[in-house]
Amino acid sequence: MTGQNPVEIDTTRPHPARMYDWYLGGKDNYPVDEAMGRQMLALEPRVPVMARVNRAFMQRATRWLAGQGVRQFLDVGTGIPTEPNLHQIAQRIAPDARVVYCDNDPIVLAHAAALLRGTDEGVTDYLQADVRDPDTILEGARKVLDFDEPIALSLIALLHFVPDEDGAHELVTRLVDALPSGSHLVISHATADFTPEESEEASAKLKGAGVTLALRSREEFTRFFDGLDLVEPGVQVPHLWHPELGDPVPGQDDGVIPGYGAVARKP
Ligand SMILES: C[S@@+](CC[C@H](N)C(=O)[O-])C[C@H]1O[C@@H](n2cnc3c(N)ncnc32)[C@H](O)[C@@H]1O
Repeated sequence: MTGQNPVEIDTTRPHPARMYDWYLGGKDNYPVDEAMGRQMLALEPRVPVMARVNRAFMQRATRWLAGQGVRQFLDVGTGIPTEPNLHQIAQRIAPDARVVYCDNDPIVLAHAAALLRGTDEGVTDYLQADVRDPDTILEGARKVLDFDEPIALSLIALLHFVPDEDGAHELVTRLVDALPSGSHLVISHATADFTPEESEEASAKLKGAGVTLALRSREEFTRFFDGLDLVEPGVQVPHLWHPELGDPVPGQDDGVIPGYGAVARKP
């Protein structure tokens, strides 16, 4: 496990990892996260369904990639462990799969031990780093992954926490440039395309509490995959991306899911 020393957990303001844990019914969150989570629910009662739909997208994309023969995974913005975790999905299909997790929130580091219980044949590792510092991520990942072999880079429900001012598209390019041909990029992302008023209000409320929510349009989302080949079915709302690879999330069809998901291959 590599990265900085853990810093103290700040319970005075909400954190995305802990709010997401609350939406998913986890226990690793604080009153400040629940309070902001409840404000989000008042605006958009389907947030818990959206969180589950997103988690299910991660599972299906990982299954699809492992089925394509991908054996190395770099997952940035991992979140608090929630079973099944990415390495469990991948290593169930390919016990020798190597997985590097990365997040910048100390709460994830505090729970990382749960992410590191993989198969004997495979490897799981964790590094604490910020996606806005791709060089540190690449340096840490190189200690575990073979950058001459294809790697699946997953940035799942992460990039909407990175505004354009912080170079969201450029840092994805920097990470993808380091991967060999045959690698894949997996992204899911929130959008205001379907529910502009509620989404903008949610974004403003989060901003007031110190959390950036950079909602992106379909076009801005698709630009993350520039130079790559989108695999079928292309850019989709997350629950319609290869639905046959997992069970439906209860409530997923009851209204619009304001997000996009896609997977692309590096030629
Ligand atoms: C909504 S959770 C998604 C967790 C998981 N990827 C999933 O989809 O189930 C977003 C995660 O991104 C992490 N995150 C936010 N900004 C980050 C940054 N700048 N660098 C690294 N991780 C970040 C948060 O700490 C949180 O764990």
